[in-house]
Amino acid sequence: MDHGKLERNSILLLIGILIVVAIGGAVEIAPLFWVNGTVEKVSGMRPYTPLELMGRNIYVREGCYLCHSQMVRSLRDEVERYGHYSLAAESMYDHPFQWGSERTGPDLARVGGKYSDEWQRAHLSDPRAVVPESVMPPYRFLEQTPLDTHDLKNFLIANRKVGVPYTDDQIAHAREDLLAQADPNSEGLEAMQKRYPKAVARDFDGNPARVTEMDALIAYLQMLGTLVDFKSYRADAPENRR
Ligand code: HEC
Repeated sequence: MDHGKLERNSILLLIGILIVVAIGGAVEIAPLFWVNGTVEKVSGMRPYTPLELMGRNIYVREGCYLCHSQMVRSLRDEVERYGHYSLAAESMYDHPFQWGSERTGPDLARVGGKYSDEWQRAHLSDPRAVVPESVMPPYRFLEQTPLDTHDLKNFLIANRKVGVPYTDDQIAHAREDLLAQADPNSEGLEAMQKRYPKAVARDFDGNPARVTEMDALIAYLQMLGTLVDFKSYRADAPENRR
């Protein structure tokens, strides 16, 4: 047909390419203007507790995302292996998101509750002690490193600036909430769980004497994928439809 004309005339071809690329660009960019409507609200999601947030920072600092994705795709083999496919809402409070593009190790989006704290501790300290064929590096120092919390409040404030709905109350009590989550016998436990529903308080690193980076990282790993109750979640429920 007229195809020959287009291929022989470079200016025409250039204009054609620009139009096609512009359509592709618009399809990718336009939804971002309505992103609040694109990410469906799902009950159960809440911002990270201060301890989980610090654990997430360690996860990012150590580059765990280089080997682990956090996104279960909607393919049958993935859903059978990892559980319900990931919802956009499940990473709505992630700045930056941890979807990842490399899986040297398994996806971690739903690893919360899969193993005991003891297993996580043993595995992070020396992966080959529990999984002999593992190529994951050991992170033994986490157990010996006290968690640095001097700029804890600033992390919550920074997250609020980019849209995470931390309240003044949550920011004011960040330190108390962090300590309460790492010590199940603390007085502040009830107040912490009121501010962060479903937050699990435990001595994650097995050392009640101090709060270490291991406490924070395991607190984070153990909550991954546990906030949304998929027994009652239905993608076509009215509150999840727009
Ligand atoms: C060099 C790549 C690599 C890096 C970096 C890495 N891992 Fe892994 N990870 C693996 C591999 C491979 C496995 C599977 C074998 C095993 O269980 O050790 C694994 C397994 C895991 C598991 C068990 C998952 C499951 O469902 O069985 C967890 C949890 C985990 N890693 C957490 C982490 C965390 C947290 C970090 C960062 C501190 C990290 N990994 C860094 C490669 C890596």
